[in-house]
Amino acid sequence: MSIISNCTAAALTDAATILVRGNLVAFPTETVYGLGADAANKDAVARLYQVKGRPADHPLIVHISSAAQLDKWASEIPAYAIKLASAFWPGPMTLILPKTDLAKDFITGGQNNVGLRVPEHTVALALLTEFEKQGGLGIAAPSANRFGKVSPTTAAAVSDGLSDYLSKDDLILDGGPCAVGVESTIIDCTKDIPVIIRPGAVTVEIIEDVLGISIGTQSLTTTSNQIKASGLLESHYAPNAKVLLSGVPTAGDGLIALSSVTTPPGVVRLAQPATNEEYAQILYEAFRLADRKGIQRVFVIPPEGSGIAIAINDRLAKSANTKSDSI
Ligand code: TXA
Ligand code: MG
Repeated sequence: MSIISNCTAAALTDAATILVRGNLVAFPTETVYGLGADAANKDAVARLYQVKGRPADHPLIVHISSAAQLDKWASEIPAYAIKLASAFWPGPMTLILPKTDLAKDFITGGQNNVGLRVPEHTVALALLTEFEKQGGLGIAAPSANRFGKVSPTTAAAVSDGLSDYLSKDDLILDGGPCAVGVESTIIDCTKDIPVIIRPGAVTVEIIEDVLGISIGTQSLTTTSNQIKASGLLESHYAPNAKVLLSGVPTAGDGLIALSSVTTPPGVVRLAQPATNEEYAQILYEAFRLADRKGIQRVFVIPPEGSGIAIAINDRLAKSANTKSDSI
């Protein structure tokens, strides 16, 4: 596996060819890095599941170059979904829509809907455009981390987590650190009104603004939820360290909090973002830093308020849920 940091047009043409041949390409998006495979190639997707270590009945998001490609994968597109696509694509939003026959069980986890997203990062968009030029229909890409681990926001983090599993014919495209830092907002568009099933940078407020209606949000960890979605499991996004959302850190513990919070003596400050946007951007790297430093307990003071703070709190709750009380 090689890492390409100079993502020229020629490099992206080669990367698209690697995907067409059935190999894997990790690529940057504005949210987190994705591990890409040809979404129409069963064997390629099987390898993707293997490298990720993810159960096969968890669905994958198919990435496309523009909303014009939607009809290939989605059989029914409600008017509100078209509005959402034109307002927020390319961007950090995934729409769940009724699927066409192109979306096989190995993509949907056997469900009759499919997740679709047009990412905003220039490298991702150029890769998608090139892949489609070479006959590809969409790139299936989960976050480029092992199942249950923290999503990568840099190419180095992808390599750290996956280099033991990728083959010499796979590739990592380095497009720098991700601007948003938490995964896309997922919106279920299979009902009369849209329902947010994973919060992200496209927030309830801005969606309601665009649609002019109030929309639903659903806690995906409730038993009523029928959709299988790994990021929606109660425990996920976890570093090796135990994440604590309350209590007082003592010497040797890690601390993640807004820059207005001071660091107690002996405590290792892992991040001090000035804003909630910056908080989202650096959270996962702060978790990784804790693991590199061998820290056992990371205390996090969650951001308050609405907007992106909702997504950060969602991920924090899941990372804090992974470990039992023993440290
Ligand atoms: O920002 C993102 O969405 C990143 C970048 C790479 O695009 N991707 C990402 O993929 O976060 P992943 O697979 O790590 O998380 C997607 C979540 C999973 O929990 C998956 O189960 C769920 O979305 N999902 C995918 N397709 C779905 C579907 N048809 N119905 C319900 N949930 C779905
Ligand atoms: Mg993920």
